[in-house]
Amino acid sequence: MTDDLDRYRRLFDLTGKVALVTGSSRGIGRAVAEALAAAGARVVVSSRKPAACEAVAESIRAAGGEATAIACNVSRDDELRALVADVEVVYGVPDVVVANAAVNVHFGPMLDVDDAAYTKIMDTNVRATLHLAQLTIPSMAEHGGGSFVVVASIAGLKGTARIGTYAVSKAALMQLARNLALEWGRKGVRVNCVAPGLVRTDFARALWEDEAQHARAVRAYPIGRLGEPEDVAGAVLFLAAPAGAWITGQTLVVDGGTTIASGEYS
Ligand SMILES: NC(=O)c1ccc[n+]([C@@H]2O[C@H](COP(=O)([O-])OP(=O)(O)OC[C@H]3O[C@@H](n4cnc5c(N)ncnc54)[C@H](OP(=O)(O)O)[C@@H]3O)[C@@H](O)[C@H]2O)c1
Repeated sequence: MTDDLDRYRRLFDLTGKVALVTGSSRGIGRAVAEALAAAGARVVVSSRKPAACEAVAESIRAAGGEATAIACNVSRDDELRALVADVEVVYGVPDVVVANAAVNVHFGPMLDVDDAAYTKIMDTNVRATLHLAQLTIPSMAEHGGGSFVVVASIAGLKGTARIGTYAVSKAALMQLARNLALEWGRKGVRVNCVAPGLVRTDFARALWEDEAQHARAVRAYPIGRLGEPEDVAGAVLFLAAPAGAWITGQTLVVDGGTTIASGEYS
């Protein structure tokens, strides 16, 4: 009986596992890094700014977790290659990879986007995630398997007149996860997305900082509040951990109910 319960006690246990989280110096990525560390993983904190990463790694260590900072701009191939190589040197082949770093540099009608903005969004959000998958998934498979989690967005599930190119990039990531899930499922690597709604981070500050904006936004959320980074971190932990062992190719929506809302909520 005790043995049976022990199996369930390990559903969210990542003791001894190695986790890499891109864009983890703040916001959702930071919360994900902290949640994975709290579950026992040795975590690599990464973003473009070394000092910001080191501060997060240090605070995880101070709280009793294990973390190392390795800076990397995911849109630079050489830096991404060096990041993965350094993770392997410091902790070994990762068991969990979270592709979280993303940008949005165009707001407005889809047909107004210029080539530079389109390329930057697709390059950072899609090509870099594919490249990260190419650099990590084969070695994860060789090393006994793992979980690759992409932070997408509910923007990729609906039409939008304001953040169209970003939404295209997020929809592409959901398809990327489905494709990779098929290719790697039998080799032990699961690939999933989480799709957050509006989360109170720097990324979306313009949409929630102002009181009137915030009140307007909250009306669309049946749970009655916007998201916090830790709301998303729990979903990523679920997909990364043994609890998610039979889930692959999926997009888990984490949005306070906004995508299923209509009528008084829209
Ligand atoms: N906030 C929302 O409402 C929301 C909703 C849906 C989905 N998302 C998604 O959630 C993810 C995280 O967003 P967030 O809201 O947590 O944003 P955030 O608070 O602005 O944090 C972004 C993180 O990514 C890093 N970063 C940015 N560009 C990078 C690059 N080229 N290479 C490496 N790191 C980079 C930033 O650090 P440095 O500046 O040091 O590089 C920072 O650590 C993104 O994929 C975003 O699309 C957010």
